[in-house]
Amino acid sequence: MRVRAFAKINLSLRVLGMRADGYHELRTIFQSIALHDTLTIRASRGPFRLTCGDPACPADETNLIWRAAARMWTAAGRRGAPRDVSIDLEKRIPMQAGLGGGSSNAAAALRALARRWRVGEAPVRAAARALGADVPYFLEGGTVLGLERGDRLFPLIDPPAAWVVLVLPGFGVSTKDAFGWFDRFGVAADPRVRREADTQVGPYINDLEAPVVARHPEIGRIISALSRQGASQASMSGSGSAVFGLFPLRRDADRAAKALASASRRTLVTKTLNRQKYQTLAAT
Ligand code: C5P
Repeated sequence: MRVRAFAKINLSLRVLGMRADGYHELRTIFQSIALHDTLTIRASRGPFRLTCGDPACPADETNLIWRAAARMWTAAGRRGAPRDVSIDLEKRIPMQAGLGGGSSNAAAALRALARRWRVGEAPVRAAARALGADVPYFLEGGTVLGLERGDRLFPLIDPPAAWVVLVLPGFGVSTKDAFGWFDRFGVAADPRVRREADTQVGPYINDLEAPVVARHPEIGRIISALSRQGASQASMSGSGSAVFGLFPLRRDADRAAKALASASRRTLVTKTLNRQKYQTLAAT
């Protein structure tokens, strides 16, 4: 069985405060995109095995796919560690990019193994929440408002489809670091930044952008360059390092991608994916 694990961008990401559990209270809009990893699930005798062609991708117990498998195995009422299944991960979603690759892999593994081992919906949802704040979103897909840790979800009406230019700088950003920089950046203490964010209408703000750009000015340069290329929106995705630009027309997206590519940046063009397409394509 093969399943697709799609990436996401955050059309907006507002950080509303700190929670008692150490996470941040969020108001974010997730948007699925067509870029995806592929998981191939096979019957294979012996202990659970995870393989990945990309040597940068950990294929051990720390991988969220592995942890998803362990949870589904237990939820199916079986003892010990998962076995008699192997998963091969074909990795296309860049890592440490704010595109949700690891979380999407986890959700895809949960769905596929729940079907295989006959696990019900409630344990799948509980496992998703336990594996990470973004994982529940990937059980849903499309355009979704996320509150609390980003895991209380409200599906939204699909916005118009758009071409998405992704620009990937030659470095990654860890989510934990980005939230730490946000805490130290003191957005509330900088009235100029606060005012600018508060007076912008529409969903197009990422509160992690300023603190991440302060560490990585290259991200700010990419956002400006995408705006100059005519993007209807240019923002960092999630906690970075990927930056996306939205374009109504494919030829404009292609032109922007070509203009922004350089020795230190990779660009790719993909498109938004609505909930119906997500649910159809992610299931097969
Ligand atoms: O849940 P996940 O493991 O994906 O989150 C990674 C890190 O991002 C957390 O350890 C936390 O530091 C930060 N985070 C946060 N608030 C959120 C989501 C993530 O502070 N709502």
